[in-house]
Amino acid sequence: MGKTSKDKRDIYYRLAKEEGWRARSAFKLLQIDDEFNIFQGVTRAVDLCAAPGSWSQVLSRKLRENDEAAKIVAVDLQPMAHLDGVIQLRGDITEVSTAEEIISHFDGEFAQLVVCDGAPDVTGLHSLDEYMQSQLLLAAFNISTHVLIPGGTFVAKIFRARNASLLYAQMRKFFKHVSCAKPKSSRQSSCEAFIVCQGYAPPEGYQPTMKNIMFSEDYETAVAALTAVDRVVVPFVACGDLSGWDSDRVYPLDTSELDPNHTRYVNRDVVAPPTDPPYKLACELKKSGRLNLTSLESTLMAVPTRAQRKEMNRLRYGNRLEEDKKKEIGIDDQLALAFSQCFTAPEE
Ligand SMILES: C[S@@+](CC[C@H](N)C(=O)[O-])C[C@H]1O[C@@H](n2cnc3c(N)ncnc32)[C@H](O)[C@@H]1O
Repeated sequence: MGKTSKDKRDIYYRLAKEEGWRARSAFKLLQIDDEFNIFQGVTRAVDLCAAPGSWSQVLSRKLRENDEAAKIVAVDLQPMAHLDGVIQLRGDITEVSTAEEIISHFDGEFAQLVVCDGAPDVTGLHSLDEYMQSQLLLAAFNISTHVLIPGGTFVAKIFRARNASLLYAQMRKFFKHVSCAKPKSSRQSSCEAFIVCQGYAPPEGYQPTMKNIMFSEDYETAVAALTAVDRVVVPFVACGDLSGWDSDRVYPLDTSELDPNHTRYVNRDVVAPPTDPPYKLACELKKSGRLNLTSLESTLMAVPTRAQRKEMNRLRYGNRLEEDKKKEIGIDDQLALAFSQCFTAPEE
């Protein structure tokens, strides 16, 4: 890809670099705030799944504008570069110990705002991605019930999918106002949206838990039982300057003619490259010529014959029923082998 092609294709990617944001996602949070005023009066906030840190940058700028002592705790599995006024934790949001660690930084007080832009690594299998996203959302919600003050706000990324109305119904039991927001900087072609839950008011006697109800045996029954009145429809709100930059459009590099306030085009480096990305090892191996691409390619290209596939399935599933086999979701053996070979340096 040419140095300028991503700037050309994605106006928000380019604007993020111009304005000093670590990721284009910063605009999504800013546009949600334009509509819902989520930062008003907030002095303690939590940013879940924060790396590389553009939402934390937004929180830091907005909250510390009014109160220098505002406290922001950011959590991610990945490390992220230092940010002034942001306490950074490396942790998994599905763990209760992470919730405890967050609270310990607020001196026993609770947060007024929890945001989560969490996204699992996408596989391209739509149903699986949707499921993983909902698991992460549930973890974010669970952690919020441990750290959020009554009246507080929870904002999280969702995929608008089949069971979105169940999600809205669950959230409505805990928050006075629930909306679904689509910022202008989030592409129309993406089913990504953000659930904005305001006025935290848990049911009386509710005890925060990290239990994952989606794994419960009666989940299907719970979903099926939702009829008419429980199938909640929440307002869907498009936010951000709707006459402003369109994330689905391709703009020319020099946009100063379209927007007189916009300076002439200069290509800029990204604000904060990832500190320790998972692909670092592959890059190092490639640089030193030790990435075993030939075996990766030949393994990926080698299409097994019908007989080989049959034998592989026999080894994999044994005598299990056909139906069980269909339910199985796993990485194909060929692919797993290719990846393992890819990361094994060839013998010297
Ligand atoms: C889209 S990025 C977040 C971008 C961020 N909001 C920003 O503006 O820079 C999604 C993040 O979710 C994190 N993540 C995924 N699963 C997680 C988990 N279980 N616990 C903590 N972080 C997680 C990933 O490491 C990744 O950094």
